[in-house]
Amino acid sequence: MNDKNNAYGEVLEILDQTANLLGLEEQDYLRLKYPEREMKVSIPVEMDDGSMQVFEGYRVQHSSVLGPYKGGIRYHQSIDPDEMRTLAAWMTFKCAVVNVPFGGAKGGIKVDVTELSKNELERLTRAYTSLIYPIVGPETDIPAPDVNTNAETMAWFMDAYSCLRGEPTPAVVTGKPVELGGSLGRADATGRGISLMAREICKKHGLPFKGARVAVQGCGNVGRSAVRNLHRSGCKILALSDVSGGIYRDEGLDIEQILELFSENPEQLLKDYHSPGIRRIPREELLIQDVDILVPAALGHQIKGEVAPHIKAKVIVEGANAPTTIEGDKILAKKGVVVVPDILANSGGIIVSFFEWIQNLYSLKWEEYDINQKLETIMVEAFNKVWQKADQHCTSLRQGAYLIALDRLITATKMKDLNQQRMQVVSSPSPN
Ligand SMILES: NC(=O)c1ccc[n+]([C@@H]2O[C@H](COP(=O)([O-])OP(=O)(O)OC[C@H]3O[C@@H](n4cnc5c(N)ncnc54)[C@H](O)[C@@H]3O)[C@@H](O)[C@H]2O)c1
Repeated sequence: MNDKNNAYGEVLEILDQTANLLGLEEQDYLRLKYPEREMKVSIPVEMDDGSMQVFEGYRVQHSSVLGPYKGGIRYHQSIDPDEMRTLAAWMTFKCAVVNVPFGGAKGGIKVDVTELSKNELERLTRAYTSLIYPIVGPETDIPAPDVNTNAETMAWFMDAYSCLRGEPTPAVVTGKPVELGGSLGRADATGRGISLMAREICKKHGLPFKGARVAVQGCGNVGRSAVRNLHRSGCKILALSDVSGGIYRDEGLDIEQILELFSENPEQLLKDYHSPGIRRIPREELLIQDVDILVPAALGHQIKGEVAPHIKAKVIVEGANAPTTIEGDKILAKKGVVVVPDILANSGGIIVSFFEWIQNLYSLKWEEYDINQKLETIMVEAFNKVWQKADQHCTSLRQGAYLIALDRLITATKMKDLNQQRMQVVSSPSPN
């Protein structure tokens, strides 16, 4: 786990660096180096042809210092324990930076979703739920959608969990369909947050936000909602990509038309989208388009050492989790490219997930306008705090965000430890 060559090694490196800046001893943050719990499950699923397949699944709970564990469930052929640990740790930092009372977790199944039918995916989700049932719940660990999972997946998860528990338990997951207790504004929250962060960073750098030229990598939950919100805020989306390739149009893509296609068929691929004036680009080239704002919103580790020198955007707003490697980040900093880091930029989803959870726990139904207002208040406040912290330490926004997150985590840990010591004093038998 301490191997600095794996992705979790990057977490440890950043943790050490940040602790150093805060003047912490290793003892102060040692527990954050280790996920609190890791569960690996083997998930048997009956396939449509009657055969049986067994899939590998995980749930990693990194830290519960600030509250119940919270984190998405990802379905992807490449996931492994190292990736799960890393993403779980990022969730701990993400909740801390925006001051949402959740800890960090992540789960996933090693599966190529394109090879399974919808019925098979449903059976897989229900079987996974029953296997991780002992460690999740509305008071303990609350999953949400992530790569290749969506509101429907959450509905299956919630139903399977409720059947096992013997009572309807909507608060066990967030990102559900609104009809099943999902929150208004949740589907769009991550993208709304990305657009807000793009607006704020442009303001700070004196770049015009309205009319800014944007490229977005990824057309899934996050990419689509980022595109929608940036477009509606007046930005010009020049380039867009997904796993099937990229498209570019100098005058700006017809975003309303593209979004319409996705609302008719969320599985739509850009290779099947045709419109006069668009130019096809290889998906790798999306990142190096001549734009003002780049939003990587697909997978992690896309902006590496090889591609970073060729990036032309002035500002990067990280929609995906960990889209920039440490090496890529260093190159961007030297080039003067400003990066709004993932743990701040894509926190809109977790914030509205928090609102969804509260509504479920207290059987409330908030108006979308109020949700969006609350989201904006929290994110803009978090942005300003990160900006100030980075400024104070003459460092990057990423480092500023980690400084705030780690400080909150350590303060909470110390308070808990103090109480634990007091309890031990109270409960220890008298020497007489
Ligand atoms: N879903 C959420 O609420 C949420 C919230 C915060 C962060 N995230 C993070 O955002 C990222 C995307 O999540 P999502 O939920 O949108 O996933 P998704 O599965 O809905 O979408 C992923 C998109 O990326 C595309 N893609 C895959 N490989 C690509 C490549 N090499 N080049 C270009 N495009 C590629 C896919 O075609 C798809 O359009 C992940 O890093 C995830 O952890 C998700």
